[in-house]
Amino acid sequence: MSHFVSPHAAELVATARALAAPGKGILAADESTGTIGKRLGSIGVENTQANRQALRELLFTAPGFDARCSGVIMFEETLGQSCADGVSFVHLLQSRGIFPGIKVDKGVTVIPGLEQRGETTTAGLDGLELRCADFYEKGARFAKWRGVLTVGADGAGPSALCLSENADALARYAAICQKTGLVPIVEPEILTDGHHGVSVSQRVTEKVLHAVFRKLHEHGVMMEGMILKPNMVTSGADAKSRASIENAARMTVECLRRVVPPAVPGILFLSGGQSEADATAHLNAMNVLSRTTPGLGAPWTLSFSYGRALQASALAAWRGDPANKEAAQKALLERAEANGRASLGEL
Ligand code: 13P
Repeated sequence: MSHFVSPHAAELVATARALAAPGKGILAADESTGTIGKRLGSIGVENTQANRQALRELLFTAPGFDARCSGVIMFEETLGQSCADGVSFVHLLQSRGIFPGIKVDKGVTVIPGLEQRGETTTAGLDGLELRCADFYEKGARFAKWRGVLTVGADGAGPSALCLSENADALARYAAICQKTGLVPIVEPEILTDGHHGVSVSQRVTEKVLHAVFRKLHEHGVMMEGMILKPNMVTSGADAKSRASIENAARMTVECLRRVVPPAVPGILFLSGGQSEADATAHLNAMNVLSRTTPGLGAPWTLSFSYGRALQASALAAWRGDPANKEAAQKALLERAEANGRASLGEL
């Protein structure tokens, strides 16, 4: 930390610690316009600005949500939106003690030369410093950047070029964020696509995180002022035999202990297509194991930064009908409660 020279250093540390407060987690409500269109389409709701606003207002105003939510990640459009009564989303969240966050990446793009493998890196580094400074002015205090990697048909993990492109982009993004006062959420997501077993997932996750932390270090990123958002170590989506919840949880904690410095305050997982129940059960099992098993202690908060695993039941309950607003909020709260308790290993 001694070599880190941002005027924001103390604020970054305080924000990162608050985001990783035990018992709380992050709501990832930063779906791009295209992605939220798929979610709305699944409940028969048209992808209009008004419907996107209504959904986000419903989520952000849910009674009791602040007890389990430390931060909300928003898409750029949402950061500029307001509740029906005119209060901006940023002010609403601030008044509830929830940090407003912003997705700053511009989505994935295929790496030239890797078209056949379909491997991608993430766009958005050009002009990022100015955009981050502007988001800080608008009230955001943390940011998200998602790199997408794959295990591959041979189970070998991403190619060397894909790995270095993504690790470098994540580290440059993180350094820029810290310079401008935003806590970076570093998200290298290894998709679950494939038939691979849980050991392959563990090996590839370890390799990817190792490369990412090496680059973060090279770029002088302050570990105390960032959050890691990884995938959990699980069997591939099409694996024939699936690891138990306990086994996947143990292998995830083993993997993280090998590569994530204890100075990082929080590891807030993505849900990556897991069911709501599985995402909660894995999180709880990790926290129980790390508390009770010698050699599996967790020096960081292990919690959630879920999108789908916090919103699926809420969306299904809402279906775009204002009369269902309370039922949808109740569904969100139920997931937030369960995951908050899972982050303490108390389920
Ligand atoms: P999921 O929890 O639905 O994977 O979304 C988290 C996220 O922010 C993906 O970038």
